[in-house]
Amino acid sequence: MTVTTVKTAPIDGQVPGTSGLRKKTHIFMQPHYLENFIQSIWTAIGGVRGKTLVLGGDGRYFNDRAAQVILRMAAAGGAAKVIVGQSALLSTPAASHLIRLYKTDGGIIMSASHNPGGPDEDFGVKFNMPNGGPAPEPVTDRMVAAAQSISEYHIIEAQDVDLARLGTTTLGAMQIEVVDPVADYAELMEKLFDFKAIKALLDSGFTLRFDAMHAVTGPYATAILEGALGAAPGSVVNAVPSPDFGGGHPDPNPIWAKDLMDVMMGPDAPDFGAASDGDGDRNMIVGRGCYVGPSDSLAVLAANAHFAPAYSAGLKGVARSMPTSRALDRVAAKRGLECYETPTGWKFFGNLLDDGRITLCGEESAGTGSDHVREKDGLWAVLLWLNILARTGKSVAQMMTDHWAEFGRNFYSRHDYEAVDGARAKEMLDRLRGRLATLPGTDILGAVVDSADEFAYDDPVDGSRSTGQGLRVTFQGGGRIVYRLSGTGTVGATLRVYIEDVSDDPATFTKDTQLALNDMIDRAETLAGIAEFTGRTAPDVRT
Ligand code: G1P
Ligand code: ZN
Repeated sequence: MTVTTVKTAPIDGQVPGTSGLRKKTHIFMQPHYLENFIQSIWTAIGGVRGKTLVLGGDGRYFNDRAAQVILRMAAAGGAAKVIVGQSALLSTPAASHLIRLYKTDGGIIMSASHNPGGPDEDFGVKFNMPNGGPAPEPVTDRMVAAAQSISEYHIIEAQDVDLARLGTTTLGAMQIEVVDPVADYAELMEKLFDFKAIKALLDSGFTLRFDAMHAVTGPYATAILEGALGAAPGSVVNAVPSPDFGGGHPDPNPIWAKDLMDVMMGPDAPDFGAASDGDGDRNMIVGRGCYVGPSDSLAVLAANAHFAPAYSAGLKGVARSMPTSRALDRVAAKRGLECYETPTGWKFFGNLLDDGRITLCGEESAGTGSDHVREKDGLWAVLLWLNILARTGKSVAQMMTDHWAEFGRNFYSRHDYEAVDGARAKEMLDRLRGRLATLPGTDILGAVVDSADEFAYDDPVDGSRSTGQGLRVTFQGGGRIVYRLSGTGTVGATLRVYIEDVSDDPATFTKDTQLALNDMIDRAETLAGIAEFTGRTAPDVRT
């Protein structure tokens, strides 16, 4: 085995964001780009010598080529072993599970999550730690430092490894084990949930449709929902992963999963609909004629998780990212659970899960998960919903009606302004930041500001502090507006405005969300001057 040392130089912009390094695929395919970043990961983790890693991705364009490069660089760095999903496929939660199950030194996940794939679309690389969770900031900071000072990387010359064939092989002195991407994950799900009850529900004629959006969850959903649980063949649609996700945008929300929404709102809707994203960590839940917002879904799961065997003893505590609606807080308050508020991004839940402070957590961006892995998990959320429906005998619509009757309703929407001028968006936030201290007590279009600040998080486990995590303004009566810039976008800046208002009046519970939030939406504009700074009078996406 010859190790080649290749001279290189730092490349601008190699800075991981909310979830790993994400760039246009053609940028990743530039000479040295991927190699520089992988070498920087090795540096950040203290070298890869003697280590065992997990490797897999969501199957998007360049996934297969990148896997071969990463394997050759792992071999050059002296790694002992890499466990690879067959055809270099692994959903993000399955990768997290394999890291934990086989007690590896971490893993590399190739994915740009819900962003489209293809030569002109997005690619991404993320390192997960031995606990199965995304690398925390100190580690990603070391990656950045290494990438900014890199002068060479090491790679071996070798033919491609046959990743289509299951079993063990070698690359130089390094062992490679190609594993079925689904088997271990499916086994874990069977341990967590009451498969017998779900099977009985499906046998009784309960129908479902799972839209895998041509992404990685296809094989997982087919094996578990149709295979193990007996859903009718064809219940999983768009089930074959494709490098460009069928030309679609594999983001499970009512806009990008419109086909599913149309079916679920139509006359012959199945009882239950769900979708997942490119790498299988997000989920969308929709009942017959009833869409469930992600923040509501998180609250419902927290209130009813005890119906699943894994959570029958109750939850240790719960957590949500700061911009996520506070529907979860209402459940926590009533059930006497500790509720943590973290910055955006799954990596902030890791310490709370590891420390046994929380069992369940989630984000408004369609991510929910528990302590079974250290990533959000789309199919897990679907199975927990099915488990709860099976045990309660309720429809999705009934679940929501009952939930709001017990806890009240938090109307919630996120407005995204995509590809706006980054400098202008920052100016807008700077101006608002400068006014925060004077806002409490002032009246904004008929509502009095209760508090206004920039969110910072002190991790209660390791004491680390994360600042600059979003501007938030709360109003007397329970309303709230949050502003922040996306850390995952690859073009310009994306401004996210999170709008929330609460109601305890059952007569309002079925109101259209955007209508219910009308006044708060106007306040969001008045406070920040979104149109003035971005030139946009309406968001590109409302979820
Ligand atoms: C977005 C979501 C965030 C999620 C992340 C990765 O990050 O808002 O909740 O954790 O994708 O899936 P953002 O682009 O807002 O930084
Ligand atoms: Zn994802």
